[in-house]
Amino acid sequence: ANMYLDKDGNALSELSENGHLSTGVPGTVAGLFATLPYAKLSFDQLIEPAILLAEHGFAITEEQAEEFNETKADFLKYNTMKVAFVKITNWKAGDTLYQPELAATLKRIRDNGAKGFYEGETAALIVAEMKRANGIISMEDLKNYQAKLREPIISDYRGYTVIGFPPPSSGGIIVSQMLTMIAPFPMKKYGYGSVEAMHLMIEAERRAFADRAEYMGDPDFWKVPQKTLLSKEYLSGRMKDFDTQKTSVSKNIHAGEIHESDETTHISIIDAEGNMVSITTTLNNSYGSKTVVGSAGFILNDEMDDFSMKPGVPNMYGAIGGAANAIAPGKRMLSSMAPTLVLKDGKPFIVLGTPGGTTIPTSVYQMIVDIIDFDMNAMDAVNKPKFHHQWLPDDVKIENGFSPEVMKGLEKMGYILQKVGGIGRSELIKVLPNGKFETAADHRGDDSVSG
Ligand code: DON
Repeated sequence: ANMYLDKDGNALSELSENGHLSTGVPGTVAGLFATLPYAKLSFDQLIEPAILLAEHGFAITEEQAEEFNETKADFLKYNTMKVAFVKITNWKAGDTLYQPELAATLKRIRDNGAKGFYEGETAALIVAEMKRANGIISMEDLKNYQAKLREPIISDYRGYTVIGFPPPSSGGIIVSQMLTMIAPFPMKKYGYGSVEAMHLMIEAERRAFADRAEYMGDPDFWKVPQKTLLSKEYLSGRMKDFDTQKTSVSKNIHAGEIHESDETTHISIIDAEGNMVSITTTLNNSYGSKTVVGSAGFILNDEMDDFSMKPGVPNMYGAIGGAANAIAPGKRMLSSMAPTLVLKDGKPFIVLGTPGGTTIPTSVYQMIVDIIDFDMNAMDAVNKPKFHHQWLPDDVKIENGFSPEVMKGLEKMGYILQKVGGIGRSELIKVLPNGKFETAADHRGDDSVSG
């Protein structure tokens, strides 16, 4: 629990955000194999394109080139072995990225299943990488890692069924809480981008994130009072002090009172039969720990920063927490990921999700409201400007594009607005009444759609 505190108890964020000690046991490979029983194609077929891209290379985009150039110093700082993402001269659009070591890792996974990652050569390479610096992941940690199938968070919003991601992510609970808090209000009448709609939606965001900090963590270690957190009575109580004319103040808003006896990369997929898949997968921030496993070619995450290293000390997304999300051996860190499915009359309607740390649940919430209340198409729901409040810090991150009058209106109510470059990189598919699909990939990144 104190692995990121110095001897005086001060938080050492550098250690939870970069390098070997910031890495949690990687879960992605176990997760992929846990979902394989639902797949139509064999694992060999599914992994083949990734192997080909790694082995034979692919041309990178301008955005990718810029990111590699910006991260070069970090890659050099946190690695002692050769890294595919670093070259002597600057990267530019159209350069080819070859990753032969990653290709070899992917082949071990193809040939040996999850054991090709958690045991044998790949595991030995991970542990050898740990030993090059201050890492602590052992062969045993890797071998013992299990992906868990969990019950999704299922809730109703205006007759639509919203199916969300359960703890150890806070995402599904937060999305459901925010939708339930605003459900009694005439959102359609307020309209997208109006002071009324934004004020109400921000106040719901503030309250949901106050609950996140207090009550949410790995349900295998911490009793998440999920039933109460999702109940209509509790949530209408949370909005009792909502004032239509002025902003609340986060220092006066606390997590709700709960009395209960004893819970980033996004891909949205739908097929011709209506099977929907919503996947969010993460190394945490860009390039994770910036440490690449020597001779294995993949980047380790810095997921440890998603834990609360000390009560009240913000992580890289400014999220705070306490005992519920404190570090413990074998425990999973609290996420904000919110891959989500929405059904209409029990039939596929929307599949959506996004990266963005704590802005994930607020983005997903806003896109659901944009489509259900504001009748937006997929393109607008994804690309129109978004805003974000997470209780603390007590400000509203807001993208360009809202009208100056609305911004002034919000400031007059007491909101502190912080302009930010881009909130999320959302991917959404909407099923139209005629059964056709409408889809959009976020213009905030070089994301793409295909079908
Ligand atoms: O699980 C989480 O909430 C974070 N690790 C997600 C990080 C993320 O979305 C970064 N993307 N921009």
